[in-house]
Amino acid sequence: MSTDATTQGARLEEERLLHGLITRGLLAEEEVQECRQALAPGQGVSELLRELVKRGYLTVSQGRRVLRNLDALLQQQIPGYLLLEKLGEGSMGAVYKAKQISVDRLVAVKILKPSLAANTGYINRFLREAKIAAQLSSNNIVQAIDAGAAGKLYYFVMEYVQGRTIKQELETGRVFDEKEAVEIVLQVAQALEHAHRRGLVHRDVKPANIILTTDGIVKLADLGLARHTHDRELNKVEQGLTIGTPFYIAPELIQLKTEPDIRADIYSLGATLYQMVTGQPPFPYQDVRKVLLGHLREKPKPPDQINPDLSPGLCEVIERMMAKEREKRYQTPAGVIVDLECLLRGEPPKLARESSSRQQQRLEALRSLAEAETVEAEARDVQYEPPKSSSLTFAWIGLLLLSLLLNVYLLFFR
Ligand SMILES: Nc1ncnc2c1ncn2[C@@H]1O[C@H](COP(=O)(O)OP(=O)(O)OP(=O)(O)O)[C@@H](O)[C@H]1O
Ligand SMILES: [Mg+2]
Repeated sequence: MSTDATTQGARLEEERLLHGLITRGLLAEEEVQECRQALAPGQGVSELLRELVKRGYLTVSQGRRVLRNLDALLQQQIPGYLLLEKLGEGSMGAVYKAKQISVDRLVAVKILKPSLAANTGYINRFLREAKIAAQLSSNNIVQAIDAGAAGKLYYFVMEYVQGRTIKQELETGRVFDEKEAVEIVLQVAQALEHAHRRGLVHRDVKPANIILTTDGIVKLADLGLARHTHDRELNKVEQGLTIGTPFYIAPELIQLKTEPDIRADIYSLGATLYQMVTGQPPFPYQDVRKVLLGHLREKPKPPDQINPDLSPGLCEVIERMMAKEREKRYQTPAGVIVDLECLLRGEPPKLARESSSRQQQRLEALRSLAEAETVEAEARDVQYEPPKSSSLTFAWIGLLLLSLLLNVYLLFFR
């Protein structure tokens, strides 16, 4: 085994040991954080245990007992999956690359933090949403595979995606050019539309949850992974504790007045698009309170003032996605898709300036037109000699098309 692989193996064992100790109530998460900062990873579990005893987190006899039962502790894993390496860590827990033993394929396993796992209300929601997520199937969504409990460990298994997140790209100082950003965000909007039609809301759309795969496909991660309620986060803000700065959160999620719906995801996607094309989030402050106030009250600096290469159409779309009142945003991801497609064709956005009800009417009209075009194309494809009555069918299709075109004309050019 190479030195790298040995260190990686040691790190994984350390992680699993710490996790085991937390789930058994022997260590608190904060103690683990402290210990992680103090000790370079990859030193091995015995060294780690020695450090924990030295720091007084474990008694000598606890340390000895853990050492005696180390094998059992380390083997504690999720049945059917072999954890291989840690991929990263977020607010809800750590993500591991793993092998699904039965079908010998790579997957990603997210193991929930013990503090979340202790909350039964949250766990019920987590398992319920995971079930719905496993039924989604879209090329632009990281596929949810499984969710469950192994002892006190709660886990979420998903498709393993090879690629880089938008967050990682932005951290290199990259500013996306308009066309590329629009193509990426269009795919995320398609993922959201798919979820929306099945009644799911993401609630945490952000650059860290958008993965650009090595084959050029964009995947939205963590869909159907229930969030912990934002009030906990906001309480922490109140107490002056640091949390991940909420650069992408929709105003209504801050106010907690209403249940979030898909329009919160549209806002967050707009904030993500803003950062992709300008290189900075819409409210680029260090102070969490100022960021939250920005979402509630401030108008973000127009993106083309930061990047003059941007088209006015793109700025309008971002503005519409990020309207403070959700009634003034695009009402569904389908609307966002229509306008992003306009931008890709070099046309001005069709829906950005419409009122919500008008927007909806226009979407319906566009949809009917698309359906009529399909009917027409299918009718054209028919090669055989039509029986006499089918001339009537063609006249009927013609009439239908004519009336639809008239409707669309009235909506667009009136
Ligand atoms: N399905 C996956 N395939 C491959 N890597 C993944 C997958 N899901 C997550 N990752 C990696 O693991 C890291 C941590 O993901 P995680 O979802 O825990 O955190 P996050 O998205 O940064 O924050 P949050 O928990 O708030 O969503 C990601 O940044 C990504 O690099
Ligand atoms: Mg994530």
